[in-house]
Amino acid sequence: MKKIRKAVFPVAGLGSRFLPATKAQPKEMLPIVDKPLIQYAVEEAVAAGITEMIFITGRNKRAIEDHFDTAYELEAELEASNKQALLELVRTVIPKNITCIYIRQSAPLGLGHAVLCARPVVGNEPFAVLLADDFMDVEEGATPVLAQMTEVFEREGSSLLAVHDVPRAETKQYGIVSVTPYQPTLELVNSIVEKPAPEKAPSTLAVVGRYILNNRIFDYLEGLGKGAGGEIQLTDGIAALMQAERVLAYRYTGTRYDCGSKLGYLKATVAMGRKHAEIGAAFSDYLAQNS
Ligand code: G1P
Repeated sequence: MKKIRKAVFPVAGLGSRFLPATKAQPKEMLPIVDKPLIQYAVEEAVAAGITEMIFITGRNKRAIEDHFDTAYELEAELEASNKQALLELVRTVIPKNITCIYIRQSAPLGLGHAVLCARPVVGNEPFAVLLADDFMDVEEGATPVLAQMTEVFEREGSSLLAVHDVPRAETKQYGIVSVTPYQPTLELVNSIVEKPAPEKAPSTLAVVGRYILNNRIFDYLEGLGKGAGGEIQLTDGIAALMQAERVLAYRYTGTRYDCGSKLGYLKATVAMGRKHAEIGAAFSDYLAQNS
């Protein structure tokens, strides 16, 4: 079975739910404590053995490219003032064996279109998709979510969607699947629909922003028209792929924070603040004294 070597990060979105913070900076650069969301997602991909990071960017996203590049002036300053630990931190944002590729999505036509933009670079192999504002946390020492998924993919060889149960009232925020039981944490997907109203949703099992997709998805995305919200939807591409081959839903182990929403972002900040090597203990004390 082919190994997953490439990951696609659709990062062209406007981040309108976080204005004014995202007026002049990408939402993916918002930090959880001291690390931007996109870096967490890239680290998750690295932990899954992925070596080619493909960013689908847009206007106002320069900061992402700069973040994963060498920062000459900063490094020179840190070196001159002998701040070795910080220098190391800045230099190791991305490991040496990783390649970053940037593709511009010139119009906001939707997630399906963003993924399709990666086709010339992904070529003929299965690949991962990570949505950085779905922040995935696992317990200390546990396997990160994407690595859990690549393990399953290597065994099963089918496209794979990360899923979790949501309250019925929230189905209109997600791709929702209906499934047949297959293995303990794995289901066969029977249908998938983008953002159904609660009364129309086939289940409450929601797709979160981690996918492993067979490259055949591109053929289906190519032919798609506009779907929910007037956008070319990845969900519709998956629905078409399912007619040709098996697609699996994977119930991951971990906690997902919706960092596209203010509340989810704050929850992630608190969770990671508590665990932070430098300030975790002091922050936990502060919370205990102030709640
Ligand atoms: C996207 C997908 C949706 C998925 C969600 C996960 O929606 O279209 O199917 O459930 O990500 O976060 P968005 O959050 O971009 O509206």
